[in-house]
Amino acid sequence: MLLLEIPVVQEIVAKITLKNFYLRLCAYLIEDFSNWDNFQKSARHAVYVPNGVLELMPICNDEFYSFKYVNGHPNNPLTNKLNVVAFGMLADVVTGYPLMISSMTLLTAMRTAATAALASRYLAKKTSKRLAIIGCGAQSEFQILAHHALFDLTDVVYFDIDPAAMLRFADNLKNEAFSLIPADTIQAAILDADIIITATACKEKLHILEQSWLTPGQHICGIGGDAPGKTELDPEILQHAKIVVEYLPQTLKEGEIQNLGKDATSLVHAEMWEILSGLKAGRENDTEITVFDSVGFALEDFSILRLCYQLATEHRLGKTIDLIPQSLVDCKNLYGLLRNTHENTTKS
Ligand SMILES: NC(=O)c1ccc[n+]([C@@H]2O[C@H](COP(=O)([O-])OP(=O)(O)OC[C@H]3O[C@@H](n4cnc5c(N)ncnc54)[C@H](O)[C@@H]3O)[C@@H](O)[C@H]2O)c1
Repeated sequence: MLLLEIPVVQEIVAKITLKNFYLRLCAYLIEDFSNWDNFQKSARHAVYVPNGVLELMPICNDEFYSFKYVNGHPNNPLTNKLNVVAFGMLADVVTGYPLMISSMTLLTAMRTAATAALASRYLAKKTSKRLAIIGCGAQSEFQILAHHALFDLTDVVYFDIDPAAMLRFADNLKNEAFSLIPADTIQAAILDADIIITATACKEKLHILEQSWLTPGQHICGIGGDAPGKTELDPEILQHAKIVVEYLPQTLKEGEIQNLGKDATSLVHAEMWEILSGLKAGRENDTEITVFDSVGFALEDFSILRLCYQLATEHRLGKTIDLIPQSLVDCKNLYGLLRNTHENTTKS
Protein backbone atom coordinates (compact mmCIF):
# COMPACT_ATOMS: atom_id res chain seq x y z
CA MET A 1 0.00 0.00 0.00
CA LEU A 2 1.30 3.43 -0.98
CA LEU A 3 1.68 6.53 1.14
CA LEU A 4 1.85 9.86 -0.69
CA GLU A 5 3.21 12.55 1.60
CA ILE A 6 3.50 16.20 0.55
CA PRO A 7 7.04 15.82 -0.95
CA VAL A 8 5.72 13.02 -3.19
CA VAL A 9 2.85 15.20 -4.40
CA GLN A 10 5.45 17.88 -5.18
CA GLU A 11 7.59 15.30 -7.01
CA ILE A 12 4.63 14.09 -9.10
CA VAL A 13 3.94 17.66 -10.23
CA ALA A 14 7.67 18.22 -10.90
CA LYS A 15 7.78 15.12 -13.14
CA ILE A 16 5.07 16.33 -15.51
CA THR A 17 4.78 20.12 -14.81
CA LEU A 18 1.79 21.80 -13.17
CA LYS A 19 0.20 22.69 -16.52
CA ASN A 20 0.31 19.07 -17.72
CA PHE A 21 -0.92 17.88 -14.33
CA TYR A 22 -3.95 20.16 -14.75
CA LEU A 23 -4.54 18.97 -18.33
CA ARG A 24 -4.35 15.31 -17.33
CA LEU A 25 -6.58 15.94 -14.34
CA CYS A 26 -9.15 17.64 -16.59
CA ALA A 27 -9.14 14.53 -18.80
CA TYR A 28 -9.71 12.32 -15.72
CA LEU A 29 -12.49 14.63 -14.51
CA ILE A 30 -14.21 14.50 -17.90
CA GLU A 31 -13.94 10.71 -17.94
CA ASP A 32 -15.32 10.32 -14.40
CA PHE A 33 -18.09 12.93 -14.71
CA SER A 34 -19.11 11.31 -18.02
CA ASN A 35 -19.47 7.96 -16.22
CA TRP A 36 -21.81 9.57 -13.67
CA ASP A 37 -24.34 6.72 -13.55
CA ASN A 38 -21.62 4.18 -12.69
CA PHE A 39 -20.86 5.89 -9.36
CA GLN A 40 -22.51 5.26 -6.01
CA LYS A 41 -22.86 8.84 -4.79
CA SER A 42 -23.99 10.68 -1.69
CA ALA A 43 -23.81 14.19 -0.31
CA ARG A 44 -20.83 14.47 2.01
CA HIS A 45 -21.11 13.83 5.74
CA ALA A 46 -20.55 17.19 7.42
CA VAL A 47 -20.21 17.99 11.10
CA TYR A 48 -20.66 21.67 11.89
CA VAL A 49 -18.67 23.02 14.84
CA PRO A 50 -18.47 26.59 16.15
CA ASN A 51 -15.38 27.51 14.08
CA GLY A 52 -16.05 25.56 10.92
CA VAL A 53 -16.88 22.21 9.40
CA LEU A 54 -15.38 18.68 9.37
CA GLU A 55 -16.32 16.56 6.37
CA LEU A 56 -16.03 13.01 5.02
CA MET A 57 -16.46 12.59 1.27
CA PRO A 58 -16.85 9.01 0.00
CA ILE A 59 -17.62 7.76 -3.52
CA CYS A 60 -17.26 4.50 -5.43
CA ASN A 61 -17.47 2.99 -8.92
CA ASP A 62 -16.91 -0.67 -9.82
CA GLU A 63 -13.10 -0.28 -9.69
CA PHE A 64 -12.15 2.16 -6.93
CA TYR A 65 -13.58 3.51 -3.67
CA SER A 66 -12.26 6.78 -2.29
CA PHE A 67 -12.86 9.08 0.62
CA LYS A 68 -11.42 12.36 1.80
CA TYR A 69 -11.33 13.96 5.22
CA VAL A 70 -11.39 17.74 4.86
CA ASN A 71 -12.13 20.70 7.07
CA GLY A 72 -13.04 24.36 6.57
CA HIS A 73 -12.11 26.74 9.40
CA PRO A 74 -12.25 30.34 8.09
CA ASN A 75 -10.62 31.78 11.23
CA ASN A 76 -7.59 29.45 11.12
CA PRO A 77 -5.43 31.95 9.17
CA LEU A 78 -5.66 34.33 12.18
CA THR A 79 -3.30 31.89 13.94
CA ASN A 80 -1.35 31.10 10.73
CA LYS A 81 -3.11 27.78 10.15
CA LEU A 82 -4.59 26.78 6.81
CA ASN A 83 -8.34 27.22 6.45
CA VAL A 84 -8.58 23.89 4.56
CA VAL A 85 -6.46 20.73 5.09
CA ALA A 86 -7.17 17.22 3.86
CA PHE A 87 -6.05 13.66 3.38
CA GLY A 88 -7.70 10.77 1.56
CA MET A 89 -7.66 7.13 0.57
CA LEU A 90 -8.12 5.08 -2.59
CA ALA A 91 -9.18 1.42 -2.27
CA ASP A 92 -9.64 -1.53 -4.62
CA VAL A 93 -13.35 -2.34 -4.86
CA VAL A 94 -12.92 -6.03 -5.74
CA THR A 95 -11.03 -6.92 -2.53
CA GLY A 96 -11.77 -3.86 -0.39
CA TYR A 97 -8.04 -3.49 0.22
CA PRO A 98 -6.75 0.08 0.52
CA LEU A 99 -4.26 0.94 -2.25
CA MET A 100 -3.08 4.40 -1.24
CA ILE A 101 -3.33 7.03 1.46
CA SER A 102 -2.48 10.52 0.34
CA SER A 103 -2.04 13.98 1.71
CA MET A 104 -4.79 15.99 -0.02
CA THR A 105 -4.31 19.60 1.04
CA LEU A 106 -2.52 20.47 -2.21
CA LEU A 107 -4.70 17.99 -4.11
CA THR A 108 -7.88 19.67 -2.85
CA ALA A 109 -6.67 23.05 -4.12
CA MET A 110 -5.68 21.50 -7.46
CA ARG A 111 -8.89 19.51 -8.00
CA THR A 112 -11.04 22.49 -7.00
CA ALA A 113 -9.14 24.66 -9.46
CA ALA A 114 -9.21 22.11 -12.30
CA THR A 115 -12.95 21.52 -11.85
CA ALA A 116 -13.59 25.28 -11.82
CA ALA A 117 -11.46 25.81 -14.93
CA LEU A 118 -13.24 22.96 -16.70
CA ALA A 119 -16.61 24.48 -15.82
CA SER A 120 -15.33 27.83 -17.14
CA ARG A 121 -14.36 26.16 -20.43
CA TYR A 122 -18.02 25.24 -20.96
CA LEU A 123 -19.65 28.28 -19.34
CA ALA A 124 -17.36 31.25 -20.00
CA LYS A 125 -16.87 32.89 -23.38
CA LYS A 126 -14.37 30.85 -25.44
CA THR A 127 -12.37 34.04 -26.01
CA SER A 128 -12.08 34.86 -22.27
CA LYS A 129 -8.83 36.69 -21.57
CA ARG A 130 -9.48 38.79 -18.49
CA LEU A 131 -10.07 37.07 -15.17
CA ALA A 132 -10.86 38.69 -11.83
CA ILE A 133 -10.38 36.94 -8.50
CA ILE A 134 -11.86 38.11 -5.21
CA GLY A 135 -10.05 36.47 -2.28
CA CYS A 136 -6.30 35.89 -2.56
CA GLY A 137 -5.99 33.10 0.00
CA ALA A 138 -4.59 29.58 -0.18
CA GLN A 139 -6.76 28.49 -3.13
CA SER A 140 -6.19 31.56 -5.29
CA GLU A 141 -3.00 30.85 -7.29
CA PHE A 142 -4.23 27.31 -8.05
CA GLN A 143 -7.41 28.76 -9.52
CA ILE A 144 -5.50 31.17 -11.73
CA LEU A 145 -3.00 28.61 -13.02
CA ALA A 146 -5.68 26.00 -13.76
CA HIS A 147 -7.63 28.62 -15.72
CA HIS A 148 -4.45 29.66 -17.51
CA ALA A 149 -3.91 26.03 -18.53
CA LEU A 150 -7.25 26.16 -20.38
CA PHE A 151 -7.49 29.84 -21.38
CA ASP A 152 -5.01 32.21 -22.92
CA LEU A 153 -5.33 34.77 -20.10
CA THR A 154 -3.82 38.19 -20.68
CA ASP A 155 -5.02 40.02 -17.52
CA VAL A 156 -5.63 38.85 -13.96
CA VAL A 157 -7.24 41.45 -11.69
CA TYR A 158 -7.23 40.67 -7.98
CA PHE A 159 -8.68 41.97 -4.74
CA ASP A 160 -8.56 40.92 -1.10
CA ILE A 161 -9.43 42.77 2.10
CA ASP A 162 -5.99 41.65 3.35
CA PRO A 163 -3.23 43.66 1.60
CA ALA A 164 -0.61 41.06 2.62
CA ALA A 165 -2.59 38.35 0.79
CA MET A 166 -2.62 40.53 -2.34
CA LEU A 167 1.17 41.02 -2.13
CA ARG A 168 1.82 37.29 -1.73
CA PHE A 169 -0.52 36.46 -4.61
CA ALA A 170 1.26 38.94 -6.90
CA ASP A 171 4.69 37.70 -5.89
CA ASN A 172 3.78 34.03 -6.46
CA LEU A 173 2.47 34.78 -9.95
CA LYS A 174 4.89 37.51 -11.06
CA ASN A 175 6.69 35.26 -13.58
CA GLU A 176 3.53 34.16 -15.39
CA ALA A 177 2.70 35.33 -18.90
CA PHE A 178 -0.27 37.55 -17.96
CA SER A 179 -0.49 41.03 -16.47
CA LEU A 180 -1.33 41.23 -12.78
CA ILE A 181 -3.57 44.16 -11.90
CA PRO A 182 -4.37 44.95 -8.25
CA ALA A 183 -7.81 46.49 -7.63
CA ASP A 184 -8.97 48.79 -4.81
CA THR A 185 -12.52 47.47 -4.69
CA ILE A 186 -14.44 44.40 -5.79
CA GLN A 187 -16.47 46.50 -8.20
CA ALA A 188 -13.30 47.80 -9.87
CA ALA A 189 -11.84 44.29 -10.01
CA ILE A 190 -14.73 42.74 -11.90
CA LEU A 191 -15.21 45.56 -14.41
CA ASP A 192 -14.68 44.07 -17.92
CA ALA A 193 -13.71 40.65 -16.52
CA ASP A 194 -14.77 37.66 -18.62
CA ILE A 195 -14.41 35.26 -15.70
CA ILE A 196 -14.93 36.20 -12.04
CA ILE A 197 -13.77 33.84 -9.30
CA THR A 198 -14.97 34.39 -5.75
CA ALA A 199 -12.77 32.56 -3.23
CA THR A 200 -13.36 34.30 0.08
CA ALA A 201 -13.83 32.62 3.44
CA CYS A 202 -16.38 33.78 5.96
CA LYS A 203 -19.06 31.86 7.87
CA GLU A 204 -21.77 34.28 6.81
CA LYS A 205 -24.15 34.99 3.97
CA LEU A 206 -22.23 37.78 2.22
CA HIS A 207 -22.81 39.71 -1.00
CA ILE A 208 -19.26 39.71 -2.37
CA LEU A 209 -20.86 40.33 -5.79
CA GLU A 210 -24.00 42.41 -6.42
CA GLN A 211 -26.27 41.83 -9.41
CA SER A 212 -26.05 45.51 -10.44
CA TRP A 213 -22.24 45.32 -10.82
CA LEU A 214 -22.32 42.60 -13.49
CA THR A 215 -22.19 43.07 -17.24
CA PRO A 216 -23.65 40.72 -19.89
CA GLY A 217 -21.53 37.71 -20.81
CA GLN A 218 -19.66 37.35 -17.53
CA HIS A 219 -19.05 33.95 -15.99
CA ILE A 220 -18.89 33.60 -12.19
CA CYS A 221 -17.12 30.77 -10.51
CA GLY A 222 -18.21 30.82 -6.86
CA ILE A 223 -16.00 28.55 -4.80
CA GLY A 224 -16.18 30.15 -1.33
CA GLY A 225 -19.90 29.53 -0.71
CA ASP A 226 -19.71 25.89 0.29
CA ALA A 227 -21.57 25.31 3.56
CA PRO A 228 -24.97 26.08 5.09
CA GLY A 229 -25.02 29.77 6.08
CA LYS A 230 -21.78 30.48 4.09
CA THR A 231 -22.41 32.11 0.72
CA GLU A 232 -20.86 34.88 -1.40
CA LEU A 233 -23.34 35.99 -4.07
CA ASP A 234 -26.30 38.35 -4.09
CA PRO A 235 -29.16 35.83 -4.66
CA GLU A 236 -30.53 38.22 -7.29
CA ILE A 237 -27.59 37.15 -9.49
CA LEU A 238 -28.83 33.55 -9.41
CA GLN A 239 -32.33 34.58 -10.49
CA HIS A 240 -30.91 35.85 -13.79
CA ALA A 241 -28.09 33.39 -14.45
CA LYS A 242 -27.56 30.00 -16.02
CA ILE A 243 -26.51 27.94 -12.97
CA VAL A 244 -24.47 24.75 -13.06
CA VAL A 245 -23.78 22.66 -9.94
CA GLU A 246 -21.76 19.54 -9.20
CA TYR A 247 -24.27 17.29 -7.37
CA LEU A 248 -27.66 18.84 -6.71
CA PRO A 249 -28.53 17.08 -3.40
CA GLN A 250 -25.31 18.42 -1.83
CA THR A 251 -25.38 21.86 -3.44
CA LEU A 252 -28.97 22.47 -2.32
CA LYS A 253 -27.68 22.40 1.27
CA GLU A 254 -24.25 23.96 0.81
CA GLY A 255 -24.09 26.09 -2.33
CA GLU A 256 -25.21 29.56 -3.32
CA ILE A 257 -28.56 28.07 -4.34
CA GLN A 258 -29.41 27.44 -0.65
CA ASN A 259 -30.55 31.09 -0.76
CA LEU A 260 -33.18 30.39 -3.45
CA GLY A 261 -35.54 28.47 -1.17
CA LYS A 262 -38.14 26.33 -2.93
CA ASP A 263 -37.16 27.71 -6.35
CA ALA A 264 -33.61 26.36 -6.11
CA THR A 265 -34.05 23.13 -8.06
CA SER A 266 -36.01 24.69 -10.90
CA LEU A 267 -33.45 27.50 -11.30
CA VAL A 268 -30.53 25.09 -11.75
CA HIS A 269 -29.76 24.55 -15.42
CA ALA A 270 -27.61 21.43 -15.08
CA GLU A 271 -25.29 19.28 -13.05
CA MET A 272 -21.69 19.38 -14.28
CA TRP A 273 -21.83 15.84 -15.73
CA GLU A 274 -24.71 16.81 -18.01
CA ILE A 275 -22.64 19.61 -19.51
CA LEU A 276 -19.46 17.53 -19.83
CA SER A 277 -21.27 14.64 -21.49
CA GLY A 278 -23.09 16.95 -23.94
CA LEU A 279 -26.61 16.24 -22.62
CA LYS A 280 -27.19 19.92 -21.84
CA ALA A 281 -25.75 23.07 -23.35
CA GLY A 282 -23.09 25.17 -21.68
CA ARG A 283 -22.89 28.84 -22.71
CA GLU A 284 -25.17 29.53 -25.66
CA ASN A 285 -24.43 33.18 -26.45
CA ASP A 286 -22.12 36.05 -25.53
CA THR A 287 -24.60 37.85 -23.31
CA GLU A 288 -25.86 35.34 -20.76
CA ILE A 289 -24.50 35.41 -17.21
CA THR A 290 -23.35 31.98 -16.08
CA VAL A 291 -22.57 30.70 -12.58
CA PHE A 292 -20.66 27.62 -11.51
CA ASP A 293 -21.90 27.13 -7.93
CA SER A 294 -18.96 25.04 -6.69
CA VAL A 295 -19.02 23.34 -3.28
CA GLY A 296 -16.57 20.50 -4.03
CA PHE A 297 -17.80 16.97 -4.74
CA ALA A 298 -16.29 13.58 -3.86
CA LEU A 299 -15.94 12.61 -7.52
CA GLU A 300 -13.28 15.34 -7.97
CA ASP A 301 -11.24 13.79 -5.14
CA PHE A 302 -11.74 10.37 -6.72
CA SER A 303 -10.35 11.66 -10.04
CA ILE A 304 -7.25 13.26 -8.53
CA LEU A 305 -6.52 10.25 -6.30
CA ARG A 306 -6.87 7.98 -9.34
CA LEU A 307 -4.48 10.21 -11.31
CA CYS A 308 -1.93 10.37 -8.47
CA TYR A 309 -2.08 6.60 -8.02
CA GLN A 310 -1.40 6.17 -11.73
CA LEU A 311 1.48 8.69 -11.75
CA ALA A 312 3.02 7.41 -8.50
CA THR A 313 2.99 3.86 -9.86
CA GLU A 314 4.35 4.96 -13.27
CA HIS A 315 7.23 6.96 -11.72
CA ARG A 316 7.78 4.61 -8.74
CA LEU A 317 7.04 7.33 -6.21
CA GLY A 318 5.62 7.08 -2.70
CA LYS A 319 6.46 4.97 0.31
CA THR A 320 5.18 1.41 0.73
CA ILE A 321 3.64 1.14 4.18
CA ASP A 322 2.52 -1.77 6.29
CA LEU A 323 -1.02 -0.70 7.15
CA ILE A 324 -2.79 -3.87 6.04
CA PRO A 325 -1.43 -7.39 6.75
CA GLN A 326 -0.13 -8.31 3.28
CA SER A 327 1.98 -11.45 3.72
CA LEU A 328 0.05 -13.87 5.89
CA VAL A 329 0.85 -17.46 4.90
CA ASP A 330 -2.61 -18.45 6.15
CA CYS A 331 -5.14 -15.63 5.81
CA LYS A 332 -7.17 -17.11 8.68
CA ASN A 333 -4.19 -16.93 11.01
CA LEU A 334 -4.49 -13.23 11.86
CA TYR A 335 -3.75 -14.14 15.48
CA GLY A 336 -0.33 -15.36 14.29
CA LEU A 337 0.68 -11.68 14.07
CA LEU A 338 0.20 -11.28 17.84
CA ARG A 339 0.89 -14.78 19.13
CA ASN A 340 4.63 -14.33 19.80
CA THR A 341 4.12 -10.91 21.36
CA HIS A 342 1.40 -12.25 23.61
CA GLU A 343 3.33 -15.36 24.64
CA ASN A 344 6.54 -13.41 25.32
CA THR A 345 4.76 -10.81 27.45
CA THR A 346 2.87 -13.50 29.36
CA LYS A 347 6.14 -15.36 30.12
CA SER A 348 8.00 -12.30 31.47
N1 LIG B 1 -15.71 24.71 -3.68
C1 LIG B 1 -14.72 23.96 -3.29
O1 LIG B 1 -14.55 22.84 -3.75
C2 LIG B 1 -13.75 24.51 -2.29
C3 LIG B 1 -12.52 23.86 -2.07
C4 LIG B 1 -11.61 24.46 -1.21
C5 LIG B 1 -11.95 25.63 -0.55
N2 LIG B 1 -13.18 26.20 -0.76
C6 LIG B 1 -13.55 27.46 -0.12
O2 LIG B 1 -12.87 28.49 -0.79
C7 LIG B 1 -12.69 29.60 0.09
C8 LIG B 1 -11.24 30.06 0.05
O3 LIG B 1 -10.43 29.05 0.64
P1 LIG B 1 -8.92 29.38 1.03
O4 LIG B 1 -8.31 28.09 1.44
O5 LIG B 1 -8.30 30.18 -0.06
O6 LIG B 1 -9.16 30.31 2.29
P2 LIG B 1 -8.18 31.42 2.90
O7 LIG B 1 -8.68 31.70 4.26
O8 LIG B 1 -6.76 31.00 2.72
O9 LIG B 1 -8.42 32.69 1.96
C9 LIG B 1 -9.60 33.43 1.94
C10 LIG B 1 -9.24 34.87 1.55
O10 LIG B 1 -10.44 35.59 1.38
C11 LIG B 1 -10.20 36.92 1.86
N3 LIG B 1 -11.48 37.57 2.13
C12 LIG B 1 -12.37 37.31 3.13
N4 LIG B 1 -13.43 38.13 3.03
C13 LIG B 1 -13.24 38.88 1.92
C14 LIG B 1 -13.98 39.91 1.28
N5 LIG B 1 -15.15 40.33 1.77
N6 LIG B 1 -13.48 40.48 0.16
C15 LIG B 1 -12.28 40.08 -0.35
N7 LIG B 1 -11.51 39.12 0.23
C16 LIG B 1 -11.99 38.53 1.35
C17 LIG B 1 -9.34 36.70 3.09
O11 LIG B 1 -8.64 37.87 3.47
C18 LIG B 1 -8.41 35.58 2.61
O12 LIG B 1 -7.23 36.09 2.05
C19 LIG B 1 -13.14 29.10 1.46
O13 LIG B 1 -14.43 29.61 1.73
C20 LIG B 1 -13.17 27.59 1.34
O14 LIG B 1 -14.11 26.99 2.19
C21 LIG B 1 -14.06 25.66 -1.63
